[in-house]
Amino acid sequence: MACAGMAITLPLLNGCSTPSQLIQASLNGDELQVPLTAFADKNYVIVRSKQLEFDVFVKKETDGTYKALLMRCTHRNNPVQRTSAGFVCHEHGSRFNEQGKVLTEPAVKNLTELPITINQSYINIKYRLP
Ligand code: FES
Repeated sequence: MACAGMAITLPLLNGCSTPSQLIQASLNGDELQVPLTAFADKNYVIVRSKQLEFDVFVKKETDGTYKALLMRCTHRNNPVQRTSAGFVCHEHGSRFNEQGKVLTEPAVKNLTELPITINQSYINIKYRLP
């Protein structure tokens, strides 16, 4: 069925995102598959997998391209939370903008951008921890 690896909407507990922006995805090899239909009425989603320690933020840019950011703080590898302006790590207060750029230390490295490929129906995100 075409729904293999398809997302299911789940309640969201973090940040300022709405429940419809959190989707559950299965890991296929080392890739997460996000259906392009997830962006029909929104410009970003947060992808979660039971198999992975960190969520992935996937944004559709205004030019129609997509960007995937690992939601892991680059200071000491704690999860970051979505905010209205980007991301925050509550462990020591680092902040990042929506492009993953460091705004507030102690983190000095930007959030990790994950490689993506797009086919007819899905965005495939290569999940790898640096
Ligand atoms: S682990 Fe994120 S600020 Fe220290």
